[in-house]
Amino acid sequence: MFVSKIEKNEMDQLPFISFKGEIHRISTKQQTLKAAAWLSQQSVLGFDTETKPRFSAGKMFKPALLQLSTKDRSYLFHLKKTGFPSVLREILSRKDLVKVGAAIRDDIVGLQRYDSFNPAGFVDLQDIAEDYGIAEKSLKKLTAIVLGKRISKSQQISNWEAYPLSTAQAMYAATDAYVCHQIYHVLMEHGEEKKSPRQRMYEEVLEEATRLMKDETDLIAAMANVSALLKEKFNFWWVGFYRVQGKPKELVLGPFQGPPACTHIPYKRGVCGTAWEKQMTLIVPNVEEFPGHIACSLYSRSEIVVPVFDAQQKVRAVLDIDSDRLNTFDTLDKKYLEKICRLFKNLY
Ligand code: SME
Repeated sequence: MFVSKIEKNEMDQLPFISFKGEIHRISTKQQTLKAAAWLSQQSVLGFDTETKPRFSAGKMFKPALLQLSTKDRSYLFHLKKTGFPSVLREILSRKDLVKVGAAIRDDIVGLQRYDSFNPAGFVDLQDIAEDYGIAEKSLKKLTAIVLGKRISKSQQISNWEAYPLSTAQAMYAATDAYVCHQIYHVLMEHGEEKKSPRQRMYEEVLEEATRLMKDETDLIAAMANVSALLKEKFNFWWVGFYRVQGKPKELVLGPFQGPPACTHIPYKRGVCGTAWEKQMTLIVPNVEEFPGHIACSLYSRSEIVVPVFDAQQKVRAVLDIDSDRLNTFDTLDKKYLEKICRLFKNLY
């Protein structure tokens, strides 16, 4: 549906995008109240901030500008004039009012330098783009891939503390927040219709696993629940973990769901030992065609094995799923199972 990557020369061919709606420059308390009243009636806002560039190490500047934009109205808050009043902090703390940006962490950290608030309802395009198969992260590239347009970055390092801002600066600032709004809109439009039932099931499992593991400190308990979740949702033939254990190191059976299985698997042996050795997910459409496959059960016809890495990127276990049918697993399974396995990182 979207290309994964885009080269600079391809982007250079695209037409420029700029915000065509109303730009409201906000610099007084009165204007802020009025703007906030309008903004809080919306459901999705493009979000960005601009900070005066720092050319040497040392103290970071506070953001000079906060932009909140819909498709036809963009508000530019001159924070150096208005401060960061509670009406704005409220908008940025509302769970039910979506604020969409790119790499928003830095913007939020910057805003917290004015006054602390509880950020809620934020969506980072960098996170969700991945779900649509987009590998690029920069707003410029996301704009090119999702909207087929080019944004100019010529004003990026201008003096955002200047007052009033030049027309070019105001347009740049409004456009940045606006494109976030538009990219989100397009992704959401494509999102649901493109999602297969299987993808939705994986999203549910991922959500549930994330919730179950949030406060879990015991590895075995977490593995037991993840095995159960996957088995329950997909009714796979066998789902379980093998953990790297002992001296010499080998894979030892851990929590699983399904019929009894082999308990010890040496390094490089079988699909599990090979996934450990190669430190990568292996999809086996037909186990009979995998040299060295270890048949724990005669019913197993296809298989996927996903390594579980610790924070130092060392393989500490593998997640193994067997199916009693051929060709059960593909890159969708790989993508979600890898996400699920990443949840274990903090348990080592
Ligand atoms: N088939 C695996 C062994 C584990 S069982 O399938 C549960 C392998 O070849 O590594």
